[in-house]
Amino acid sequence: MQPVIEMRGVTKRFVDVIANDKVDLKLFPKEIVGLLGENGAGKTTLMNVLFGYYNLDGGKLLINGGEVTFGSPKDAINHGIAMIHQHFTLVQTQSVLENVMIGMEGSFFLNKKKAREKLLGIEKDFGLNLDPDAIVWTLSIGEQQKLEILKSLYRGAKTLIMDEPTAVLAPTETIELFETLRILVASGHSIIFISHHLQEVMDICDRVIVLRSGKRVAERKVSETSIPELASLMVGRELLERLERGEAKTGNAVLEARNLKVRNNRGIVAVDNLSFTLREGEVLGVAGVSGNGQTALSEMLFGQVKPEDGEIHISGKNIPGGSPSAIIKEGMARIPEDRIKTGLFMDLSVKENMILESHVNEPISKKGLINMKEIRSFAEKCINNFSVKTDGMDAPVKSLSGGNLQKVILARELVGKPKVVVACQPTRGLDVGAMEYVHQAMLDQKTDGAGVLLISDDLDEIFLLSDRIIVMYEGKIIGEVSTNEADRDKIGLWMSGVTS
Ligand SMILES: Nc1ncnc2c1ncn2[C@@H]1O[C@H](COP(=O)(O)OP(=O)(O)OP(=O)(O)O)[C@@H](O)[C@H]1O
Ligand SMILES: [Mg+2]
Repeated sequence: MQPVIEMRGVTKRFVDVIANDKVDLKLFPKEIVGLLGENGAGKTTLMNVLFGYYNLDGGKLLINGGEVTFGSPKDAINHGIAMIHQHFTLVQTQSVLENVMIGMEGSFFLNKKKAREKLLGIEKDFGLNLDPDAIVWTLSIGEQQKLEILKSLYRGAKTLIMDEPTAVLAPTETIELFETLRILVASGHSIIFISHHLQEVMDICDRVIVLRSGKRVAERKVSETSIPELASLMVGRELLERLERGEAKTGNAVLEARNLKVRNNRGIVAVDNLSFTLREGEVLGVAGVSGNGQTALSEMLFGQVKPEDGEIHISGKNIPGGSPSAIIKEGMARIPEDRIKTGLFMDLSVKENMILESHVNEPISKKGLINMKEIRSFAEKCINNFSVKTDGMDAPVKSLSGGNLQKVILARELVGKPKVVVACQPTRGLDVGAMEYVHQAMLDQKTDGAGVLLISDDLDEIFLLSDRIIVMYEGKIIGEVSTNEADRDKIGLWMSGVTS
C-alpha cells in the first residue's frame, strides 16, 4: 500500500543541535501513528518540518508517493496536512464560525451562509457539535480543541498532526477526543499523535515510532509491545518500578487558606469559601476535574489574583492578597500550570530565567551587586540536577522543547529550600523519565520538611504522591480523606459532585 505521507532520511539542524537525524516515517491511510520520545527528542521539530514551518537540511518528503517541497504551512495545508498545536491559535473574541472562516478565500459576508452550512455538515459527519455562533472565550479547552479540528477539516485536511492534544484535556474530554479520532480514521483520515501518556498511546494508536536524541530508534505495532517496553525504548534504560511515598511526619502549618473566595473573569464564583491547612512534611493532593476552580485557587495562592474574601497564611503570617513578592519572600515555590504565560520570560536566556526569583537574594546579589560567578554556578546546578536539555545556560529559553521549559521552572523553584511548594499539574508534558524525577523531587521536598500542595487532574499522580487528598468540585471542597483510607471509586464520585 502507498503511504499518504513519507518522510525519508529527514534531517533538521539548529545551530548546535541536530534535532532530527535521518528520520524515516511512513503514515498509511486510516492509520494512527504515535510519535514518542523524551523531552527534546525532536518530535515537535519533525512535525514542524512536515507542516512546512522549517526547511529540511537533508532528506525528502513524499505525499502519496510524489516528492514535495514546502515553503510554508500554507503549502502543507494545500496538500491536506493540518497541525493542531498544544497552544491553540484561535481568535478568542470571535465566533466559532468566524474562526473557521479566517484566512479562507472569498468575501466574508457573501459566503457566511454557505460557510455555516458547510460547517454544520462537517459537525454532523464527525460528531463534533459546537454552536457556530458561540464566542471562543466562552468555550472550554476541550471545545476549543474541537474547533481546531473543525477548522482543519473545513480546509480539507486528510492528515492531522496532533502535538500532545491530551495534555490540556480532562479525562472525559480525552475519551471524547478519541471517539472523534476513531470516526476520522474510519472515514479515511490519518493521524500522527504525540503524547507522553503511554496508556493513551496504547489505546488509540496502531503503530508507534520512537525518537531518541533526534534519531529514530524503534518502531512497533501497538499489538506487539507494552508500556514498559515503550518507556525503556524512549529513555534508553529501565525505569524504576515504583516510588516509596513514606509516611508523613507532619509539623507546623505552613500554608493556610481561610475562607477564600474569588470570581473568574466572567464574574462567576470560581472558588467559594475554601479553607484548608497544609503542614510541614506532608503532600496534600487537590484532586478534581479541571475547571472546578483549581486554576483560580492557584492564582490566589501565587499572589497573581487578589481574593475577594478570605486570607492566606504562610507559616502563620497573614500575606496580603495579590502580592507575589511577599509570597516568594516567605519561601513559597510556585510551579504554575501555564508555564509559557506565567512561568518564564521567553526572550531571556536559560540562566536568566533560572535566577528570576533569587536574583535579589544572597549569594547571587550582595549589597546590590550581582555576582556573575554565583549566577553561573546556580544555573549549572539547576541544569545538572534536572537534566535540562539545552545548548547551554546562555541559550534563549525559547529554543527549549516543551518539557525542558517545564524543567527550567522546576529547577528554579526547587533547588532552593522552599518551605512550601505549590505545584499545579507539575508533570503535564513531561516524559516518563522526567515525570519520575519530578515525583521523586516532590517527595524529597516533603522529606526535607516542606509542605507540598499538589494540584493535579491526574488521579494516578494524586494517589502516588499525596498523604491526604481533598477534592474540588464547583469551587468548593467536596470531600477530604487520608490516602491510606481513600477509595478510588469514591474519589471519582466526589469529582463528579456526588457525595452520598
Ligand atoms: N527554534 C529552535 N532553536 C534552537 N533549538 C531548537 C529550536 N527548536 C527546538 N530546538 C531544539 O531541538 C531539540 C528538539 O526539540 P523538540 O521541541 O522537537 O523536542 P520534543 O521531542 O518535541 O520535546 P517535548 O516532549 O519536550 O515537547 C531540542 O534540543 C530543542 O532544544
Ligand atoms: Mg514537543
